[in-house]
Amino acid sequence: MIGELIKLRAEAKKSGEPILRDASFELLIKTVKEHKPKSMLEIGVNLGLSGIAMLLSSENSRLTGIEIDEEKVKLARQNYAKFGVDKRARIILGDATEVIPVLTGKYDFIFLDGPKGHYGEYVSYLLPLLSVNGILFADNVLFRGYVTGKVKTPHRFATTKHGMEKYLKTVCEDKKLITEIYDIEDGVAVTEKLSD
Ligand SMILES: C[S@@+](CC[C@H](N)C(=O)[O-])C[C@H]1O[C@@H](n2cnc3c(N)ncnc32)[C@H](O)[C@@H]1O
Repeated sequence: MIGELIKLRAEAKKSGEPILRDASFELLIKTVKEHKPKSMLEIGVNLGLSGIAMLLSSENSRLTGIEIDEEKVKLARQNYAKFGVDKRARIILGDATEVIPVLTGKYDFIFLDGPKGHYGEYVSYLLPLLSVNGILFADNVLFRGYVTGKVKTPHRFATTKHGMEKYLKTVCEDKKLITEIYDIEDGVAVTEKLSD
């Protein structure tokens, strides 16, 4: 199972799919295994490969994904079926910017990996959806080194960089949250909600 998933990830990477990088993927799986969330949300599903790994790492979990690209949704659903996790996974085809504000209920684990320019806006909707002791796992928060200043931000990415800074300020300054930022690959922030 895992061998087949690694193979699919390698193929996807080779064909230029924007899948989660290796160390960030390992951190995602380790975090899911530690927390064993019941309900999970993934924003930006792509081929469903991280979702499969999350579901295989926590056998009583269910996953809701949001993905804007219809073709990707089709492929992700096929992949879920191939790995036998399709009964525990559903994908909402749509724009996360429209879908997230109308979501209800609570999620024990949220994996934010959608459009990078919107994290600053999404965070205010995602925090109320997160259960107490739940985890918000966000990829790309250091965005190409622009956020730390290691790399000079080109003008066209200034808005995305500001959105990421807003996201990080929110999750780092809220006393009801505890956030660890990992300076690996494109940067990962892991936030735990301590109370409502
Ligand atoms: C980095 S990829 C997700 C990778 C996936 N989470 C994984 O680890 O395998 C980002 C995905 O977000 C999708 N996406 C981009 N903008 C979106 C939007 N506004 N709403 C929903 N999905 C979006 C893209 O089509 C793409 O498949």
